[in-house]
Amino acid sequence: MLVEPAALELLASLSDGAEIMDAAVAAAVSRNAFMVTHSVVDELLSARASEKKTVQISVEHTSFRAAVADLNPDIKLDINRDVTDKSRCTGTVENFRDYFRDRFNRYKRIFNEKASQIPLQPIARVRSSTERELRTIGMVADIRGTRKGDLLIEIEDETDTLPCFVGSREKALFEKAREVLLDEVVSFEGKMYNSLFIVKDVHWPDVPFRQKRTADTDACVALLSDLHVGSKYFLQENFERFIRFLNGDTDDKEIAGSIKYLVIAGDVVDGIGVYPSQEKQLVTKDIYEQYKLFGELMKKVPDYIEVVISPGNHDAVRTAEPQPRLPAEFAQDLEDYPNMHFVGNPAWIEIHGVKFLIYHGTSLDTLIPALPSLSAGYEFPEKVGIEMLKHRHLAPLYGEKPLVPEKRDYMVIEESPDVFHFGHVHKNGYADYRGTSVINSGTWQSRTDYQVRLGHHPSPCLLPVYSLRSGTTKVLSFA
Ligand SMILES: [Fe+2]
Ligand SMILES: [Fe+2]
Repeated sequence: MLVEPAALELLASLSDGAEIMDAAVAAAVSRNAFMVTHSVVDELLSARASEKKTVQISVEHTSFRAAVADLNPDIKLDINRDVTDKSRCTGTVENFRDYFRDRFNRYKRIFNEKASQIPLQPIARVRSSTERELRTIGMVADIRGTRKGDLLIEIEDETDTLPCFVGSREKALFEKAREVLLDEVVSFEGKMYNSLFIVKDVHWPDVPFRQKRTADTDACVALLSDLHVGSKYFLQENFERFIRFLNGDTDDKEIAGSIKYLVIAGDVVDGIGVYPSQEKQLVTKDIYEQYKLFGELMKKVPDYIEVVISPGNHDAVRTAEPQPRLPAEFAQDLEDYPNMHFVGNPAWIEIHGVKFLIYHGTSLDTLIPALPSLSAGYEFPEKVGIEMLKHRHLAPLYGEKPLVPEKRDYMVIEESPDVFHFGHVHKNGYADYRGTSVINSGTWQSRTDYQVRLGHHPSPCLLPVYSLRSGTTKVLSFA
């Protein structure tokens, strides 16, 4: 019997893979097939998944006493940076004008804080200047290749527009300039030549070098995303094992007892109608049922753990970002639990003084193809996270994935977070960048048909646990 690589990978991601393998071989034999295919395994998973819609976790509270159980929680949500209850956009021309002005002004403030030898000047002043060393900032309005293979980037500010030329013969500069994105704000150094600005260097706002804040507590934060409850690929057994672990059913009681916070960066359920023919991938086709099952799982989390829940593109809020918190009708009775906190996407929270930026990560789908340096972005999401910090924006490209032109650009990264936590690509990734821990928390869903087609390799059930005292991450496997 041959095994299709995609089938093998799917089996390997399951806690009961050996059992399903036996069943898949039996199914293949009964059909006179010589190969165990992904679709055979998939069928078996669907059949099994429809049998396990309910949560069966028995929690015994006998001997386990978490070290953090009596610790007072210290968690603050920055409501000014959360769009929840503040969306007033109706899609008028004024809304768009205000939005882009706000974006520009926030960038301008960031650039003004940066030290530079050459003074920053508005475009109108640069256009008429004969100085040999000029510096300006502008929002990228257009990027074009010329017939000779050079780059022409048009930028604008409140005063004027400026065509900027980057010659292809200067290899290093040219490669750098190819990373410029439409609609972001960049800084160019160079000089005027007739009506053209000849670029000598490009600068992104970037985050400054700094020491990350840490806290005087042994409490830890567990980071999760992309559960996709309701999907037949949701790894419910593994997730239940994680919940039992939180309740002390583990050999590593010390680390289980140090988890005081749980942060979920979106896609808590699989949703309905998120992509064509999704219904074939669902066990639970009722969105309320999906959230009910999610709620049942969350209720098994010990009550001394503070849980922060932020939505993603699969959740039942508007798909356009920034997203407000999950509405009460879906949050159901979790709302009545004082340790459950629903926030928007993105969200800024402070835990014992340590700043977390939580963002689902939907824009990764547009950033990865747009930036030449990110060709392996789906395998190394931390690299994309670093780019977002460098560009100081969570979704610089306007119009690729829907963004709402709010009065304020909630997607600008106005300060350095200590932890930048995101998900969406279902692949764990970790990096330290200039004092920020960049963490992609992976997924609790096995490899879907869709990911097989795209050639993506998710890393399910790997749980990053962040220590507030040391600022380091430990990864626990529930695979
Ligand atoms: Fe997801
Ligand atoms: Fe997602």
